[in-house]
Amino acid sequence: MKTTDIFDLRMNRSAPDLWPMLEALYGAHPDYGSFCEDLIEEMRKAWKARPSDLKELDLKRDLEPDWFQRPDMVGYVFYIDRFAGDLAGVLDKLDYLESLGVTYVHLMPCLKPRRGDSDGGYSVMDYRQVNPAYGSMSDLSRLAKALRARGMSLCVDMVLNHTAKEHEWARKAAKGDPAYQEYYLMFDDETLPKQYEQTLVEIFPDNAPGSFTHYPNLNKWVWTTFNEHQWDLNWANPQVFLDIAKIMLFLANKGVDVLRLDAVAFMWKRLGTRCQSEPEVHKILRALRAVTRVSAASVLHLEEAIVGPAEMLTYFGRGEHDGREGNLAYHNNLMVQYWSALATRDTRLMTHVLKTHFPEHLTNATYATYIRCHDDIGWAITDEDAAAIGVTGHGHRGFLSDFYEGSFPGTFARGALFQFNEETGDKRISGAFASLAGLEQAKEAGDTEGIEAAVNRMLLGNALIASFGGVPLIYMGDEIAMTNDYRYMSVPEHAHDSRWLHRPHMDWDMALAADPESPEGRVLAGTRYIFQRRKLVPAIHGRHPTRVIEAPNPAVFAFMRLAPTGTLLCLFNFTEEWQDVPVDWMRMRGVENFHDQLSDGPVSSENGTFTLPPYGRVWLV
Ligand code: GLC
Ligand code: GLC
Repeated sequence: MKTTDIFDLRMNRSAPDLWPMLEALYGAHPDYGSFCEDLIEEMRKAWKARPSDLKELDLKRDLEPDWFQRPDMVGYVFYIDRFAGDLAGVLDKLDYLESLGVTYVHLMPCLKPRRGDSDGGYSVMDYRQVNPAYGSMSDLSRLAKALRARGMSLCVDMVLNHTAKEHEWARKAAKGDPAYQEYYLMFDDETLPKQYEQTLVEIFPDNAPGSFTHYPNLNKWVWTTFNEHQWDLNWANPQVFLDIAKIMLFLANKGVDVLRLDAVAFMWKRLGTRCQSEPEVHKILRALRAVTRVSAASVLHLEEAIVGPAEMLTYFGRGEHDGREGNLAYHNNLMVQYWSALATRDTRLMTHVLKTHFPEHLTNATYATYIRCHDDIGWAITDEDAAAIGVTGHGHRGFLSDFYEGSFPGTFARGALFQFNEETGDKRISGAFASLAGLEQAKEAGDTEGIEAAVNRMLLGNALIASFGGVPLIYMGDEIAMTNDYRYMSVPEHAHDSRWLHRPHMDWDMALAADPESPEGRVLAGTRYIFQRRKLVPAIHGRHPTRVIEAPNPAVFAFMRLAPTGTLLCLFNFTEEWQDVPVDWMRMRGVENFHDQLSDGPVSSENGTFTLPPYGRVWLV
């Protein structure tokens, strides 16, 4: 079979995901016809240019479409410079990653950013070049190959909501080129911006208030949802779609396996709305996925939308888009509920939210499960959900902020506020996993019980994300329980952004030679072990439904993984006390074998009661 025939077959397969979407988005545009022709042409070119080893990979993944849902998937996320200096340095760290069980590597933004503050690399001025401080595009390809040789895949950020104002397109727009002014959202006076702002939510109210920036020399107001230097792209312009699609295919052909599509919720603007998760966003994302599915079929899309429960699910495609949009999306609600249940020592809200809003099964997709990442934690808990368990949304969100900032009396956590929004009362939180889980405070106080609890809270979290269903992501340094790094305050371009509190430089002495008795050494060994076990438990496969159930004890969070080969019952004790679970209840949930798949040891019961230790976690078949 000729490879052009393969292209045509793939085009036929994805046509329903591509043309109706584009027609709806851009059909009325005067250049629609030539846009479609250009797009096909670009897709064909990218397919022709695709290296043969990647074409082989496309075929392999066509045959194994569940590859990213398998229990052997374990992700690791890091900043290249803080982890290994540069891309060449990363090559030297692959043994370490392999020893952790990692099969998926997410490099934090690695494309050429603007100079100075670049929002951690999310202000990109050239998508076709690697950040020169990290190396070159061929270093990236080399890394992709080296990873593939070890059975690891590579995830890279693709920022598609905005570019740096120093990007070539933005520079042309600033010079007055009308075609490039159409790439952004620019206004001649403040009338429309003011109207939009009535319903917009500010993202960085502290240091980048408002959603527009006025440039007196251009005499324009430019849409800047995030920072002043990040100009929002105008996705109503088909040329933007075409240019971004070309870049995605370019990166795919360099060997990138997963494109992390940044801040996707914000891509479409509509007056009178929050301009988040508008229906057009899903049409764009479905069409973009079709583009890579045709020309670089093995590539997955991870969609970053840090939003409330109902809204989040739409990124897997709901209704007509079901199974046709993101392959992966962050389960930020699982993360938020982990922190909420730890603080309250009560899993009722967690159970309610995860049971009510999330389906047991996703089509062609799975979650990216995580406890910490490079961003702040926003308390995405709705008033309705809070009310369902008898608390107020405002009160509970405020409590969580105080608790994790470290100001609530008796808290174990130490963190920092991020972007207090006085208008909405919304307070987000920064902080390292270990510090938020209590290790920093306990170590300082020499509190051995506190240290023990913190270690177990961390392992509880890692066991949770390893079994819930999805690709568990470990964030750089969390596997060795690195605590808050306060040095960012003296770095001028970071001092305004407390997220740098949890973006440490990797402690390699600790990673390679931690004392196994130390808290750091225990978290490392425990995390490694959790992933070893995950790989051996087939019921953890992402294709098997996850049924969240109410445990007979509100201290315990429970779900079942419904595999045809047998149900896995996973239990997590969110308190520092011993907690009882009746054996009969467990039997009725299908547990026959009282052997814990996580510790690979028997669980014992007494008088019909099984007792989970403080922060205990078990996976029972
Ligand atoms: C995403 C990133 C975040 C960044 C924002 C703007 O949310 O995760 O770090 O600030 O997009 O690019
Ligand atoms: C907002 C955005 C989210 C981003 C975060 C960065 O919450 O919704 O996408 O991660 O800001 O702090």
